[in-house]
Amino acid sequence: MLKYLMFYEDRGIEIQYAEGQYVWDSNGRRYLDEHTGHGVAFLGHRHPHVVKSIVEQLSSVSILSTAFRCRVRDEMLDVVSKIVPNKFEYIYLLNSGSEAVEFSLKVARKATNRKKIIYFTNSFHGRTFGALSVTSNSKYRKGFEPLLPETHQLRYNDLSELDNAIDEDVAAIIVELIQGEGGVNIASREFILTLREKTIEKGALLIIDEIQTGFGRTGTTWLFEQYGIIPDILLAGKSIGGGFPVSAVFIPGDIVSKLEPGSHGSTYGGNPVACAAVKASVEVLINEVVPQQAGIKGFKLIEKLRDNLKKYRIVKEVRGVGLMIGVDLRVEPTKIIRCLQDNGLLALKAGLTVLRLLPPYTINDDDIMFTVSRIEGCISSQFSS
Ligand SMILES: Cc1ncc(COP(=O)(O)O)c(C=O)c1O
Repeated sequence: MLKYLMFYEDRGIEIQYAEGQYVWDSNGRRYLDEHTGHGVAFLGHRHPHVVKSIVEQLSSVSILSTAFRCRVRDEMLDVVSKIVPNKFEYIYLLNSGSEAVEFSLKVARKATNRKKIIYFTNSFHGRTFGALSVTSNSKYRKGFEPLLPETHQLRYNDLSELDNAIDEDVAAIIVELIQGEGGVNIASREFILTLREKTIEKGALLIIDEIQTGFGRTGTTWLFEQYGIIPDILLAGKSIGGGFPVSAVFIPGDIVSKLEPGSHGSTYGGNPVACAAVKASVEVLINEVVPQQAGIKGFKLIEKLRDNLKKYRIVKEVRGVGLMIGVDLRVEPTKIIRCLQDNGLLALKAGLTVLRLLPPYTINDDDIMFTVSRIEGCISSQFSS
């Protein structure tokens, strides 16, 4: 029999059922899911409105080239227009975050007729060749070089290098407002405002990767809103399909005018089922006031974690925005993540020392208390205060 090629560590449990913020294993054991498939199930698992929309679409037209029109695409365009600034006249759907990153890098080079791309330390933008070229972690890059030429790494949140590095040769800067995989590192306001200012001044494009931060997780639909800027290209993924694999690239008309037929394409990108998933997910986002709920619940969870964990020397810092949360430890968090799983809470790692929580917005007060008590329990059982 074939074996599945594993790049993630085997978590040792078989998940049989998922609903809302919970999953159940093959022994019928329930877990509060704050792993959410790397942050995808932010609307909760199998949100009924999303499931209904996908099933209905599957029963009429499930696959179609974007060369053909279909009503669900128009409906999707109509509803998504409500959650992005007017600056973005175009959306292009792809199937994964990495593909959205790839496309944005291509667009930047084509539209500016420049080659240089700037990215930052601790960035994560994906593992395909282009996305990997702007992902800093040497663990992911090693053995795959040479990567894309003319990609340059600068220090995240460090303004000192920007003046020299951002010149008229730069096609684009790609940045996460909170680095998810890199350690739940939050960009300073000054850093992002400077990037916005300098890219405008030099005619470079600012690509903001909101594949993890976007779609309400941080308390606003997009995190860039909290910085008071608008990027030139916006990338979304993970939760925008409510669990269906889809990503989106938002682009202004003047940039699109520099592209031509053949500049890009995708067999599956923008298929009717993906359109149905995005349409329904945005409806949920709007109707259930998801960003506000995530903001309120995230604030509560972060405050409680800070209060309860401050007495443990092993805890360096609790940081996050909305429901994107990191508990930075003085140790590698794998043992704690395993202990949490044994105690009914699924979480994941970020950077080298961060326990990362990416809960669905559907978590309730009991789930918040459960999260805090389980994390405190695992920390105190493994490390005395
Ligand atoms: C910020 C960011 N960009 C890009 C990606 C890549 O997305 P995917 O794994 O869907 O290709 C990820 C995935 O974790 C991400 O967090």
